[in-house]
Amino acid sequence: MVLRQELLVGFFLLSFCLPGSCNLVLDVQHKFKGREKTPNELRSHDVRRHGRLLSIVDLELGGNGHPAETGLFFARIGLGTPPNDYYVQVDTGSDVLWVNCMGCSNCPEKSDIGVELRLFDPKGSSTAKFITCDQSSCSAMYGGGTIRDCKPDMLCKYTIIYGDGSATSGDFVKDYIHLQQAVGNHQTTVTNGSIEFGCAAKQSGELGTSSEALDGIIGFGQANSSIISQLAASGKVKKIFAHCLDSVSGGGIFAIGDVVEPTVKTTPVIPHQVHYNVVLNGVKVGETTLDLPVGLFETEYRREAIIDSGTTLAYLPGHIYHPLMQKILGAQPGLKLHTVDHQFTCFKYDENVDDGFPLVTLLFVESLILIVYPHEYLFQIRDDMWCVGWQNSGTQSRDGREVTLLGDLVLQNKFIYYNLENQTIGWIEYNCTSGIKLREEKSGKIYTVGAHRLSSAASIIEIGRLLPLLLAFTLFFIQ
Ligand SMILES: *[C@@H]1O[C@H](CO)[C@@H](O)[C@H](O)[C@H]1NC(C)=O
Ligand SMILES: *[C@@H]1O[C@H](CO)[C@@H](O)[C@H](O)[C@H]1NC(C)=O
Ligand SMILES: *[C@@H]1O[C@H](CO)[C@@H](O)[C@H](O)[C@H]1NC(C)=O
Ligand SMILES: *[C@@H]1O[C@H](CO)[C@@H](O)[C@H](O)[C@H]1NC(C)=O
Repeated sequence: MVLRQELLVGFFLLSFCLPGSCNLVLDVQHKFKGREKTPNELRSHDVRRHGRLLSIVDLELGGNGHPAETGLFFARIGLGTPPNDYYVQVDTGSDVLWVNCMGCSNCPEKSDIGVELRLFDPKGSSTAKFITCDQSSCSAMYGGGTIRDCKPDMLCKYTIIYGDGSATSGDFVKDYIHLQQAVGNHQTTVTNGSIEFGCAAKQSGELGTSSEALDGIIGFGQANSSIISQLAASGKVKKIFAHCLDSVSGGGIFAIGDVVEPTVKTTPVIPHQVHYNVVLNGVKVGETTLDLPVGLFETEYRREAIIDSGTTLAYLPGHIYHPLMQKILGAQPGLKLHTVDHQFTCFKYDENVDDGFPLVTLLFVESLILIVYPHEYLFQIRDDMWCVGWQNSGTQSRDGREVTLLGDLVLQNKFIYYNLENQTIGWIEYNCTSGIKLREEKSGKIYTVGAHRLSSAASIIEIGRLLPLLLAFTLFFIQ
């Protein structure tokens, strides 16, 4: 994927920059420019701003990370006036919110996940407005610069291609998003904000099939086009959020705001990257540190790991994957291995996997570690049949790129904290049913936000229908 990505990036850089990769010069008009302002006017402007400043947002979650079940986590959001509910996959690996729109071609009509799908109807929302390509908000979605071949009245178009080759395209629309704002412990009220998002006119690949279909994807990436960046730019929230994805009961916590509990150790986010990349220093299996080839960790490029809630499994470069698998499977030399769905290494095992297989520990800079238990990296497809969740990124990605991509398989049952104000990410093992505490910026009050579990269909475990790997991290973003 990266080879293709880089070629396209190079090509498109001629006309505009990728989100997050270059500076945007926005033509901002000051509201009070060119006329006298009365102190009263200024004050009421400030009061209004402060009145809505920096709230805590509690996003309701559903789904689970099991490859043989839903394989993803989703949230409920409200859009439009009057507001309607939409179910969107939460994805820290991409930068745009889009939902399926009325008249869309190849959009799924029903979902095996057990949620009611709904098409967004721009004509049915009194506040929806399409954006044209000559508007500054269109170029802002593209990280600044002018849009190629833009003619007046042409809509601001988007196309996003995800890591599994699936794609969505349509037009950007501006409308209200309705979210739950924390106003007490486990208490919320509806808050809104005006945002820009994609109104999908066409889907291809996995996005058009019904098995894991949702209304769309909400990108929580760091580019200016993501919802967190848009809400932060309008003073609604701080650029800090956290999640706890519960693979035991499903759902979990997803909150925007300044978390005070639990506290975590953090590692820096590598700057100037499209995704949340952190530096991986090493890998341990049980007590053994993997003997990785010399030179593997020499360049920053090779050491990067992408943190991505929109990917189900965890992908490692061949140099890490092969010795890791050898150690894991070597713990039980008698195993008879089968390949399921041409892609998963599976075996029969009828004892407790946590007793029979080693822990995997990922080591990051500033001594942050991430422990993955056997019951997390192994998943069950039948009573006694287990499959390994670790994947070789070289053979799985479309262009053979050797990335380290850490999806729900390793992120689940942990509190994961993204502080974009300080460019750090951290985590700690956590029981997602416990709730977390956040501080409201304006009042200094501390509120508990608990777990949610939006209902979804009962688990369907069928061999031969394992989740096709939705790698929901954006590859590129083309006009
Ligand atoms: C993103 O937004 C910030 C603040 O609004 C601005 O300073 C920055 O230049 C923007 N970056 C890009 C790449 O558009
Ligand atoms: C947004 O919220 C404010 C304050 O609650 C409310 O007055 C306004 O009507 C809402 N706007 C929309 C479009 O829902
Ligand atoms: C960022 O880090 C500084 C220094 O450690 C700290 O004082 C500040 O509170 C942090 N800001 C946020 C938003 O976490
Ligand atoms: C998490 O906490 C809940 C409620 O306190 C408890 O029932 C559950 O067993 C805990 N889960 C784990 C994995 O410890």
